[in-house]
Amino acid sequence: MKKIIALASFLIMGGLIILASCKKDELNNNRTNPPVTSNDSTLKLSPFPWGAALNINTLKNNAKYASTVVKEMQSVTAENAMKMGALSTGRGQYKWEDADDLVNFAQTYNLRIHGHALVWYKQSGTSMPAWVIHFSGTKEEWKQIMKEHITAVVTRYKGKVTSWDVVNEAIKDDGTFRPASECIWTKNIGVPEYIDWAFQCAHEADPDALLFYNDFGHEYSSAKRTGVNNLVAGMKQRGVPIHGIGMQMHTGIHRNVNDIRTAITTAASTGLLVHISELDIKVNNELAQGITFTEDLAQKQSYHYQMVSKFMKDIPEKQCFGITMWGVHDSSSWLHSNPDWPLLFDNDFERKPAYYGAVKGFQ
Ligand code: G3I
Repeated sequence: MKKIIALASFLIMGGLIILASCKKDELNNNRTNPPVTSNDSTLKLSPFPWGAALNINTLKNNAKYASTVVKEMQSVTAENAMKMGALSTGRGQYKWEDADDLVNFAQTYNLRIHGHALVWYKQSGTSMPAWVIHFSGTKEEWKQIMKEHITAVVTRYKGKVTSWDVVNEAIKDDGTFRPASECIWTKNIGVPEYIDWAFQCAHEADPDALLFYNDFGHEYSSAKRTGVNNLVAGMKQRGVPIHGIGMQMHTGIHRNVNDIRTAITTAASTGLLVHISELDIKVNNELAQGITFTEDLAQKQSYHYQMVSKFMKDIPEKQCFGITMWGVHDSSSWLHSNPDWPLLFDNDFERKPAYYGAVKGFQ
């Protein structure tokens, strides 16, 4: 009798295990889970380069951060180190150390470098130096200080930096240019004149560099998309050298993916290069405190990554400049303290479902 009971328990247990594993397979089929083995980067199999914005201090002090970049990325951008406020301490005075370190790191590991950003309206510490904020002069003098800055930076990294965000965020969500009250360059030079001028100066300093206009909001504002495309059309008409559109794409799982597709196809309709230049996909748009990163959120985020990656793959290959993540791992994201978990790698640099979603998207 004892033997029969033992056998029955064994069979029931076995059945439960089989049932559980079937259920797991079913779940796995619906999800974007890792390939069974491989220590290599599947992200590098992408038809277009994936990159990341780097924080120089973290790069220097966290070996795992650096090794993840080398292993997984094909392109890098300085999150802050190449901004005017980070580089320029006074007119004609520069501290190059952090930007140089990034360039040396990238060259050592054969990573493409995308420069960010030569001209920006923002007036915070890393964005614009105090001496520019307090500068006073004629329009020609303002054009001169812009030219001096662009020439100094682009010349220093000529042949090393492949591409530049020449002007960042010149257009508002309603499609109009940032007015004089918001933008020191509009106020002192005029718009679109300051934009044309910035691109002309960058091109003169490095005729081989690819020059991008970079902005956010393409995925939620059709007015912004129209504004950007009108700007680009005008620049082309005026003979201003522009090669690409950077779409920052600070987005989230709350967005409808069809709007992301529209953003990408609208930019591609210009015939220029398309760069998703600052990608992160939030899961906590509402800034809820006490929230945790659940499996459900991870899967939703993975799906969004998959779609962004797929939509990029769907545009003509020659226009596909790449996707740059705005950070490497969740805890290095500018959104981390919201709290949020917007990137491809978790706090321990493990690949998240988002990573496998991104891979699935371009496959
Ligand atoms: O490094 C200093 C540190 O020494 C100091 O103690 C501390 C005190 O506040 O500030 C540190 O600098 C901060 C820097 O980030 C590095 O963490 C700056 O204050 C802060 O303004 C800066 O924020 C950056 C922001 O741009 C403004 O430049 C974010 O890291 C960066 O992720 C963000 O990136 C922008 C893109 O350039 C353009 N698109 C939007 C994107 C997100 O806002």
